[in-house]
Amino acid sequence: MLPNTTIQLPKASTVAHRIDSVSDLVFWVSVLFFILVVGAMVYFAWAYHRSKKGRTTGYILDDHRLEFLWTVVPAAFMLFIFAWGAIVYMDLRRVPPNAFEVNVIGRQWLWNFEYANGRKTMNDLYVPKNRPVKLIMTSEDVLHSFFVPNFRLKQDVVPGMYNYISFEAIIAGEHPIYCTEFCGTGHSDMLGRVFVLEEKDFDYWYETGKLPAGLVIGAPNGGQGPATTGGDNKKTLAETGKDVFSAKGCFACHSVDGTPKVGPTFKGVYGHDVELADGSKVKVDENYIRESLMDPNLKVVKGFVPSMPTFRGLLTDTEINALIAYIKSLK
Ligand code: CUA
Repeated sequence: MLPNTTIQLPKASTVAHRIDSVSDLVFWVSVLFFILVVGAMVYFAWAYHRSKKGRTTGYILDDHRLEFLWTVVPAAFMLFIFAWGAIVYMDLRRVPPNAFEVNVIGRQWLWNFEYANGRKTMNDLYVPKNRPVKLIMTSEDVLHSFFVPNFRLKQDVVPGMYNYISFEAIIAGEHPIYCTEFCGTGHSDMLGRVFVLEEKDFDYWYETGKLPAGLVIGAPNGGQGPATTGGDNKKTLAETGKDVFSAKGCFACHSVDGTPKVGPTFKGVYGHDVELADGSKVKVDENYIRESLMDPNLKVVKGFVPSMPTFRGLLTDTEINALIAYIKSLK
């Protein structure tokens, strides 16, 4: 087996070794062709130097077999690399339905993490080991990019919409998070850590906001330990969403018990398709809810009049996440 090119980085997620395999293949193929091309170049420069007597350049005609070979073989090989990469990428994008969800908000210049039970952390993401985790990610200001090298995981976060990524961590301990999209003066300080905890340690942290006494979080490639540990969570994210729902007067037009009012009810809508005025269908997910808050008249549910005002600028990302969690909870 050829040596691994991703020097020393721990393979801390289930996809890490598969991504490394594709990356290693591309790297070693590049090395091979570098040697072939540069080798031929150096040899020809020496072999056909003008100082060598008695050599005249031959009149070279085309050779279809040769042209066919050097077109088809590399093309087939490129397609093989593409197919392999695409398969790994599609697996990476597939979010298991039972994944543990965490909301991520990037802002100049830190990361906020919000959990379903209301726990919030800054720059420190706690996740359970050996369990699929789904990050629902957005930005409050500019483009940022969430990068965890040990997981081989990278995703841009974009203001005004949600992106998703999922992973399953397999090495407990501390793993660095970097921002890899230039986002202003504090960009290089926009550092976070993922703390992968054993299932029972994670459950303890999730309940209490504290780490179990005596727990030492190791760092496979250097670390500083947690800065924030979760604080208190008096309310779950959905409960906060219910408060926002009341405070912003949503109940005037939307019921939560299935009765249609001026607008559609929120009961049982999340994750289902709804029919729009023009007969098309849209799935109620994070992005649709967010869009409906910002541009309410863009995709109006069939049978309702477009009469909702925009909430652009009137809700923070945390409030929007909370509202979405509340709508999710209305099964
Ligand atoms: Cu955030 Cu760079």
